[in-house]
Amino acid sequence: MNFPLENEDMSLIKKFELEASRIPWVVSLAQWIPRYPTPQPIVDFLIEKIKKWETNRYSIVPWLPQLRDSIAARYFEKYNIEIDPEKNITITAWAIEAISSFLLATLFPEDEVILIDPTYASYRWCVLTARWKPISAPLDDNRDLNIETIKKLITSKTKAIIFPNPNNPTGSIFSLDKIKKLLEITKEKNIYVVIDEVYDEFIYDNEIFQSAIIFFKSYPNLVLVNSWSKTFGMTWWRIWYIIAEERLNKEIIKVHDNLLTCAPVHSQWAAISTFEIYDEWTKKIKKQLQERRDYTIKQLNQLKDFIDFQIPKAAYFVFPKFNYTDNDYEECINILHKARLALVPGSGFWNRWKGHFRICFWRDFDDLKEWLERLKKYFWK
Ligand SMILES: Cc1ncc(COP(=O)(O)O)c(C=O)c1O
Repeated sequence: MNFPLENEDMSLIKKFELEASRIPWVVSLAQWIPRYPTPQPIVDFLIEKIKKWETNRYSIVPWLPQLRDSIAARYFEKYNIEIDPEKNITITAWAIEAISSFLLATLFPEDEVILIDPTYASYRWCVLTARWKPISAPLDDNRDLNIETIKKLITSKTKAIIFPNPNNPTGSIFSLDKIKKLLEITKEKNIYVVIDEVYDEFIYDNEIFQSAIIFFKSYPNLVLVNSWSKTFGMTWWRIWYIIAEERLNKEIIKVHDNLLTCAPVHSQWAAISTFEIYDEWTKKIKKQLQERRDYTIKQLNQLKDFIDFQIPKAAYFVFPKFNYTDNDYEECINILHKARLALVPGSGFWNRWKGHFRICFWRDFDDLKEWLERLKKYFWK
């Protein structure tokens, strides 16, 4: 018997984490795993809800209204944009479920989805598992959106363009000007532009990030996804949301309902409570992250004989290139076994990224210091 995905490998990020977990004393700069507990006010709020037995049933299919209202209220407060909580928002359990619900709701067989390249590896898997065709749209040399390239890749089968802003693994921020151009090109062709803004709070130096939500009223082909996963270190709660125009949202809800019934109810309550501490919390983590980003860049600057890299403007990754080999996989395996340090090979982000690797710098400071020392020792051996 053949399996449709048997020629595809599992995500290299997860593969390296798994391999690393089998080797003693390995430290990992591969997958980001929150290094701090969920903020106490969120936990306290949830404990109260559990004690009152408010988490012990499905949410009214498929959400808690209070959560959708809070999301809409935050966008209104921050961007003065009105989103109808009932007509435009679906609460999902995680990123892939949000993206997959969108894909399953919109695509017909043979449709194509353009993904920027490099990008979050799981989008490609979402498209593949739904049996549709991912098309790679390389970023330009400045790691920015290449509108001309995307334009050339659009065919009569293109249904959507998906990317995160800010981007993983490059840490690029795509400007609203470019996003508007993309929405303009795609609007008439009924192509959705799906933007994942999960790193919206991780912006360095004086860079400015603004949500594409400001285009929501003028461009019904805009779809946004976001989550509390990164901002509040809540990856383990598995809770996301998707914002889409009414007709599309109805279709997404149908798919979501059949996949999952509803996102975990305790996680929905936890997400509601984040809005009480949002600004105070994000201010705190921004400072910590800026320190880590600056420290990491300073250390990597000492390795310029071995690697080239661009300074990330956002998110918490650096995506350097070995300047002595294109075999990123073999080199990351060597580093894993000899330096006991887990990184992610660039080819995990699509084949054209051979020779690159990804470092995640959101770690405890002492650990970050130790891990970068290991990397330096490896290169200077
Ligand atoms: C852009 C982007 N979206 C989604 C995710 C996944 O988030 P979650 O694990 O909460 O589903 C990641 C994880 O690295 C990511 O980089």
